[in-house]
Amino acid sequence: MSLDAVLARVDADLDAATGRLMELLRIPSISTDPAFKADCSKAADWLVRELTALGFDASARPTPGHPMVVAHGGGDGPHVLFYGHYDVQPVDPLDLWHRDPFDPAIEETPKGKVIRGRGAADDKGQLMTFVEACRAWKAETGTLPARVTIFFEGEEESGSPSLIPFLEENADELRADIALICDTGLFDPETPAIVTQLRGLLGEEIRVTGPSLDLHSGMYGGIAMNPIRALTRVLAGLHDDNGVIQVPGFYDDVAELSPELKAQWDALGFDEARFLGDVGLSGKAGEAGRSGLEMIWSRPTAEINGIWGGYTGAGFKTVLPSEAHAKVSFRLVSGQDPLKLRESFRAWVRERLPADCEVSFTDHGASPAGHMDTGHPAFEVARAALSAEWPKPAAFIGCGGSIPVAGYFKSHLGMDALLAGFGNDDDAVHSPNEKYNLSSFHRGIRAWARVLGGLSA
Ligand code: BES
Ligand code: ZN
Repeated sequence: MSLDAVLARVDADLDAATGRLMELLRIPSISTDPAFKADCSKAADWLVRELTALGFDASARPTPGHPMVVAHGGGDGPHVLFYGHYDVQPVDPLDLWHRDPFDPAIEETPKGKVIRGRGAADDKGQLMTFVEACRAWKAETGTLPARVTIFFEGEEESGSPSLIPFLEENADELRADIALICDTGLFDPETPAIVTQLRGLLGEEIRVTGPSLDLHSGMYGGIAMNPIRALTRVLAGLHDDNGVIQVPGFYDDVAELSPELKAQWDALGFDEARFLGDVGLSGKAGEAGRSGLEMIWSRPTAEINGIWGGYTGAGFKTVLPSEAHAKVSFRLVSGQDPLKLRESFRAWVRERLPADCEVSFTDHGASPAGHMDTGHPAFEVARAALSAEWPKPAAFIGCGGSIPVAGYFKSHLGMDALLAGFGNDDDAVHSPNEKYNLSSFHRGIRAWARVLGGLSA
């Protein structure tokens, strides 16, 4: 049977596949930093070369930002579109890395071999699982068992500014029977997962100005308004003592978890104490009375991601600053309208600032939450494929992160999406010392090889 031969080919080729991933990891494709613009193009070109060598009709398409990679291959059978992103997060704080983030290596750890480097898990290692699955099918059978369109974005980590226009301009070329998205994780190291709901995201930056210049806090302290005092007072009121967000109307369109989903999630046996203990924490800090999985998958949040102003350099300076800044983001759930919430948040901040404080806002993107239609036949194919590769059967789970493209595939192309990825909670995505387990890479390739075979059957 050809699937067995394809899987054997994956196993035999694993070292070479790992070598190819390391080549891609060496390219510092940080999308948010203009200094790495040429590297983003270099990563796109590297992928085009790889896909062309595999027989795909591949090209890097320019956008106002970083290029999109689009490739077509295979022939008969159902049409699948595979999505991943080749851009990565910045590496700071660099001094916490144990090695150069862009000089990847295979490391032995107590939990097995890992591929260490920026982008190993998010998302280069994951997107290469699909490319390598295609390679094995090609090598073993001379073709692909399905019609495959590959779509790699280079701006996912910086808010995808070119994505919607690109989808609209290339809708007919990109539309397929189903989109496969590989940018999520396992439920736990033994349990693979298909993500059926994602949270949305709203990003806001606040700048509060007070006196026209920085002031001596001995001369003016006591009489003058301090914008940091004003801003922190507002931000301190974002949650009440039970962790409930205080922006008016914030929960208006938020539904309670259905009893079916609650039962399904309870059955997963999520170990809250371990999840928090692994990152040095001892207890939940979300809305009182909610389960841990609800807090990360189905409840909206407000987080202060950064705050600055005044003197933060070495030593001490008795300054009364003229400005204060913060970055705030909201994870949103089904039903919440990001644009409506942006307006309520801004109005709430304005209302609470005292006289002599001016405020301005910068929009850092807004995307709604997404729900997948698990009725599509690809879900059972993927469930079987993943269950065959990991010790435990695949679970349908939620994801607290945001992958806006999944919703745009539905809203702009009318295409359902299936999200399956193989990351682990301890991969340190977006953090120093990011890694991807070699077992995730290996099983991930095998799982996609099975999915391709299963979809064609
Ligand atoms: N791969 C992540 C999404 C993710 C996060 C999946 C956590 C599973 C667990 C993705 O690259 C990401 O970080 N997305 C951003 C989106 C934002 C920049 C629009 C996020 O969730 O913050
Ligand atoms: Zn990602």
